[in-house]
Amino acid sequence: MLQSIPSQFNLDVASTAHSAPAILSRMLRIVTQLVFGFLALLALLALIPICPLPTLGRSTWWLQPFPWDATYDYVVVGGGTAGVTVASRLAEKGHNVALVEAGGTYEWSRPLSRIPGAATIGIGADVATASSIDWKFVARRVPGANYRDIHYPRGKCLGGSSALNFMIYQRPSEGAMDKWAELVGDVSYSYNETLKYFKRTIAFSPPNAESSRPDTPYNSSAFDSKGEPLRVSYPQFAMPFSTWARQGFSAIGIEEIDGFDSGKLEGHQFCAMTIHPADETRSSSDAAFLYSGRGLKTLSVYQSTRAEKVLFDSRLRATGVRVSGIWGYTLWAKQEVILSAGVFQSPQLLMLSGVGPRDTLLHHGIRPVMDAPGVGQNMWDHVFFGPSYPVSVETFSRLTQDPLWLIWQAANYLIRHEGVLTNPSTDYLAFEKLPQHLRQGLSPAVEDTLAWFPDDWPEIEYLAASAFVGNFSNPFFQQPARGQYGSIVTSIVAPTSRGNVTLRSRHAKDLPIINPNWLDTESDQKLAVAAYRRIRKVFQTTAMEAILTGPEYFPGLQFQSDAEILNIIRNTMMTIYHASCTCKMGMKSDRMAVVDHKARVFGVERLRVVDASAFPLLPPGHPQSVVYMLAEKIAADIINSPLLSQ
Ligand SMILES: Cc1cc2nc3c(=O)[nH]c(=O)nc-3n(C[C@H](O)[C@H](O)[C@H](O)COP(=O)(O)OP(=O)(O)OC[C@H]3O[C@@H](n4cnc5c(N)ncnc54)[C@H](O)[C@@H]3O)c2cc1C
Ligand SMILES: *[C@@H]1O[C@H](CO)[C@@H](O)[C@H](O)[C@H]1NC(C)=O
Ligand SMILES: *[C@@H]1O[C@H](CO)[C@@H](O)[C@H](O)[C@H]1NC(C)=O
Ligand SMILES: *[C@@H]1O[C@H](CO)[C@@H](O)[C@H](O)[C@H]1NC(C)=O
Ligand SMILES: *[C@@H]1O[C@H](CO)[C@@H](O)[C@H](O)[C@H]1NC(C)=O
Repeated sequence: MLQSIPSQFNLDVASTAHSAPAILSRMLRIVTQLVFGFLALLALLALIPICPLPTLGRSTWWLQPFPWDATYDYVVVGGGTAGVTVASRLAEKGHNVALVEAGGTYEWSRPLSRIPGAATIGIGADVATASSIDWKFVARRVPGANYRDIHYPRGKCLGGSSALNFMIYQRPSEGAMDKWAELVGDVSYSYNETLKYFKRTIAFSPPNAESSRPDTPYNSSAFDSKGEPLRVSYPQFAMPFSTWARQGFSAIGIEEIDGFDSGKLEGHQFCAMTIHPADETRSSSDAAFLYSGRGLKTLSVYQSTRAEKVLFDSRLRATGVRVSGIWGYTLWAKQEVILSAGVFQSPQLLMLSGVGPRDTLLHHGIRPVMDAPGVGQNMWDHVFFGPSYPVSVETFSRLTQDPLWLIWQAANYLIRHEGVLTNPSTDYLAFEKLPQHLRQGLSPAVEDTLAWFPDDWPEIEYLAASAFVGNFSNPFFQQPARGQYGSIVTSIVAPTSRGNVTLRSRHAKDLPIINPNWLDTESDQKLAVAAYRRIRKVFQTTAMEAILTGPEYFPGLQFQSDAEILNIIRNTMMTIYHASCTCKMGMKSDRMAVVDHKARVFGVERLRVVDASAFPLLPPGHPQSVVYMLAEKIAADIINSPLLSQ
């Protein structure tokens, strides 16, 4: 049954829709959009001097090998977060590598993505607002979201989703990595052993003395001075709302810790981000590895080129990849093919190549090469939602309300690399297990399910967001016309619902169908409601009350019962974009495992899957650190293995 948005919200929207303030707010929006268009242009101009031209070895579509095929040592499919990392590390060792990416270079086509403060543009629940570097996935009629259609952003460009993400850099808890090691039967995935791979990619810069939070604590030994090339730092400007949320979290009994990169998550702090401290631009995999003038001569990048399927010889060895740019051809791999097409398209490509659930393949007329029932199954994800309050501190809302302020901030950002646009708007996190005194509502069955998670694996994450959130359909442009708003949103990080990905057709150009199955289990629903109440508690602390200028703005305190709160959650929930595990890593005895501990696809040879789809579990919190770690670890394994004979 379709349930509508709470009436209070409807009224709010309805009453402003035809009045003078509505016309004013529409005009404001148009002005804002113009300013942002102008800003994008300025960004392009202002950033050109500091971004070196694309490096050698970076071929583009007009350099495609005219009808002839080409042969490389390795063919990496997907120039996203993992793909760029693996391809670059292999090329650094002198291997000839082809990197196949369906999209282009966002630094040129959408320079807005380089600005942290623009991260909320284009990633809302309404797909009509999606950006030009997005695949525009939509999860249709999701039962857990009261049958709403939800946009699932995924980057379509070099950099992949690291060109769209919120830049939060945070590592899993020790117990989460140790669980990974246990599930795949390989101690080299334990926290201790993976630490060197987490460190390898990262060049860390502590909070700088001129920033607004120079005293933010951090643990310098979590980073390695030799790590490179991804930049991790702190936004030059910290959101004022976060400094109040910080006191609120302490007041409800969460302790302050020194960041989220030392294997312990329970606590609260400002989070580190993948932002280049020199100019406060996004450090994506592309910006860090390819765009920074590192000059990898043995790396050939095929942009605007879509992989269609992996080819196998009679011994089930992957020999190359069929691709299509302006025309179709084959990139042959002397050594291996590596799929890094992301959580939705790595399983899609496996299925198109004949590796997947037999019935699905036959249904689409694909000849099965290998029956692999786990391909596309077991999808983990995190959802988020939360209430908004009117506050007295300056927030992100002002950017959309006050064009002059926006222009001032834009100038400040472009010229001095300062101000609110250095911050993606969500810069403060807290993690906890639901405290003991709030667990009476959990049935023994729910407690049993949750007991699977290690002791240091939090169940709930809170994120301080300096803006109105609502149903997140168009986060940047849906800010109320007047007033400042602060939200604390929660993400359920011990989820037990599992979704799936399946083929729409036998053509690579047709996006696969995603069934995220969010909020399907009693455990997820119970945690969601408990977390919502807990957020209200944070806002009711004396620390937070100091900045509140009125009662809860959305959804409103009239929604109190479990059923009412759950319904609000269903009407407003959005994915926090962490889909993973659709080609899960595991042991051979587990029929649903798709890849082994070295990310090699079971049942065939010379084929690996290296991206978020290969996770055996989704660690608590934000996964990009784990994607980079996995890419570094598998690249090291390939580099240290003897070359395969032909
Ligand atoms: C809006 C948003 C916000 C996020 N915020 C955060 C955050 O703050 N912190 C965090 O840690 N994580 C965050 N994430 C999640 C994180 O960014 C992703 O988990 C991670 O980037 C996934 O990396 P990947 O290598 O698996 O896939 P991707 O980076 O998505 O790469 C897949 C690549 O494959 C390409 N591709 C796909 N199919 C084909 C084909 N057939 N042929 C050729 N190329 C193909 C795609 O274009 C893409 O470039 C966020 C994600 C999004 C979308
Ligand atoms: C969000 O709410 C608005 C206003 O009620 C509605 O028009 C829109 O369809 C909703 N979007 C989603 C994705 O739920
Ligand atoms: C990790 O290292 C610590 C300290 O060196 C040690 O106490 C612990 O047992 C190690 N854990 C694993 C899983 O190796
Ligand atoms: C800092 O990080 C190192 C390496 O991850 C870890 O061994 C140490 O315990 C951390 N210190 C604190 C105080 O968390
Ligand atoms: C995927 O999940 C949905 C929802 O649970 C289910 O109806 C469907 O059968 C599943 N599809 C596949 C291919 O597993």
